[in-house]
Amino acid sequence: MHALDGVSLEIARGEFVAVTGPSGCGKTTLMHLLAGLDSPTTGEIFVDGLALHDAGDAALTDYRRRRLGLVFQFFNLLPTMNVIENVSFPLLLQGVSYSESEQRARELLDLVGMSERSTHFVHQLSGGEQQRTAIARALIHRPSLLIADEPTGNLDSASAEMVMRVLGQIGNDKLATLIVVTHSPEVAQAASRRIEMRDGRIVSPGHVSPA
Ligand SMILES: Nc1ncnc2c1ncn2[C@@H]1O[C@H](COP(=O)(O)OP(=O)(O)O)[C@@H](O)[C@H]1O
Ligand SMILES: [Mg+2]
Repeated sequence: MHALDGVSLEIARGEFVAVTGPSGCGKTTLMHLLAGLDSPTTGEIFVDGLALHDAGDAALTDYRRRRLGLVFQFFNLLPTMNVIENVSFPLLLQGVSYSESEQRARELLDLVGMSERSTHFVHQLSGGEQQRTAIARALIHRPSLLIADEPTGNLDSASAEMVMRVLGQIGNDKLATLIVVTHSPEVAQAASRRIEMRDGRIVSPGHVSPA
């Protein structure tokens, strides 16, 4: 079966795009392709000038490590680390100094409204707080592209609203090109563009798919 079929799409640097569509229409498959976690059987994908469809494992790993931030429905925080350690850890792994990593982590915790919780452990946080921590972590290395796949799919509505507000601010501040898969009308509203999918195709009004 074709999870995606004839998808043709261009997203400009700094855009904030919301991707919507019913379950099973191919949203996650499209995000995995953009993240270099999956490769297309045919077709081309360029991000930041890098040809993902042609790149080897080392180049893809480098792409994900340096240029990409990912946020999923489940937060995947490390339970043995507190909030600020979780957020700064990717920078430490890249060899950035402890003080610089922590400074950058503090700025991002401020951005996502988690400064007061920086020494809490994962089990002491609500789902929304965990997700906001995960968003801060995804931005720590200043990625050019941030992809969030149903980031509020596992949250109560109050937590979801805060997460959406944080994403809206990231989009408006153009901290990264932002692609958010969401069922939330509020996120879709805040985005600068909405891409609607159906049965592996893009069906947004005005979108022209190749024959
Ligand atoms: N690993 C896989 N193997 C086979 N089919 C898959 C796989 N992942 C997804 N699919 C199928 O591809 C289609 C698109 O799935 P997905 O991209 O996860 O949709 P969405 O994120 O919009 O719910 C669905 O029909 C799904 O069942
Ligand atoms: Mg999905």
